[in-house]
Amino acid sequence: AAAEKDGYDWFMLKEIAEQPHAIADTLLGRLSDHGAIVLDEVRISDQEVRDIDKVFVVSCGTSYHAGLIAKYAIEHWTRIPVEVELASEFRYRDPVLDRSTLVVVISQSGETMDTLMAMRHAKEQRARVLAICNTNGSTIPRESDAVLYTRAGPEVAVASTKGFLSQVVACYLVGLFLAQVRGIKYADEVAAIVDELRALPAAVEKVLSEMEPVRELARSLADSPTILFLGRHVGYPVALEGALKLKELAYIHAEGFAAGELKHGPIALIGEGTPVVVVAPSPRGRESVHGKVVSNIQEVRARGARTIVIAEEGDDDVLPYADHVIRVPRTPTLLAPVVTTIPMQVLACEIADTRGLDVDQPRNLAKSVTVE
Ligand code: G6P
Repeated sequence: AAAEKDGYDWFMLKEIAEQPHAIADTLLGRLSDHGAIVLDEVRISDQEVRDIDKVFVVSCGTSYHAGLIAKYAIEHWTRIPVEVELASEFRYRDPVLDRSTLVVVISQSGETMDTLMAMRHAKEQRARVLAICNTNGSTIPRESDAVLYTRAGPEVAVASTKGFLSQVVACYLVGLFLAQVRGIKYADEVAAIVDELRALPAAVEKVLSEMEPVRELARSLADSPTILFLGRHVGYPVALEGALKLKELAYIHAEGFAAGELKHGPIALIGEGTPVVVVAPSPRGRESVHGKVVSNIQEVRARGARTIVIAEEGDDDVLPYADHVIRVPRTPTLLAPVVTTIPMQVLACEIADTRGLDVDQPRNLAKSVTVE
């Protein structure tokens, strides 16, 4: 088993390190030289794509967080309304589905029972089902109308890392593909985004090469009774994912919040020294959002929080209120989760390791949950 880990202490560390390759493989052959998205394997006709009037993204756990990110991207690029839902809730809610609904199901394993049952429900209602999956020939892609494989390679650690980043990238491809087929007039923006997608593996590589200070910080957080995570816009799902990773691996109480909701409750949790991890959006993207997050950092700091801020290179506005800054490369707003998630993974992994826990096989969890 040690050999399979390629010298890493944990499969999770190996899989975190494989992320540049994983997302390069997700993109392989799917971006043309002319800035187009090529998804020949997605067997949904152009007419069907044009008829779509609503998208549901349905998944569980970490894959649900990929879905939350997908919503921002797909709505922005296609102007089609997108709803994201936990698979375990979706089918009991009697969702409104018909043949012009596209249901995107996201599952690393392709075997999660809740997701499978949600998908079957969608098919019974005659919706089109597109699976984003990492496991060739598993049940979910076999039963779906179309499948986009993420090609991240086998994921062994229970907590998903490379599976997640490749799902996020696959969701971008789906969003851009829908926009392209529907002839949305974002030609310039889409071509620019395609170049930015190509740059992601190198950006991820860069983040990974700068994680030593994050590991050091993690060791200092290993005894925290609670850690809070804040984000806005696509930083919000990243905050949720950071909290989930910490719960899964380190058994530390953690919660992710939309930073704007702080004042409606969560701020009461903050006391002297409470660690708060904040995902700061790019100052170049949505300026107002950036300014609001900077105020949020200031607010929690004023109440005693120890602030850990994940911020883009060159974003100096966060410096006066950050106890620790974790830098990520400049990335367009919608693509930022691909880089901002990585410090979350490293933090959780290192905290769990410091606490002497089994990083790859956390208690009570399974890699694939095949019961409802
Ligand atoms: C389990 C795993 C999680 C995973 C979730 C969904 O709970 O422990 O890491 O995110 O299932 O799995 P899926 O294979 O459907 O993406």
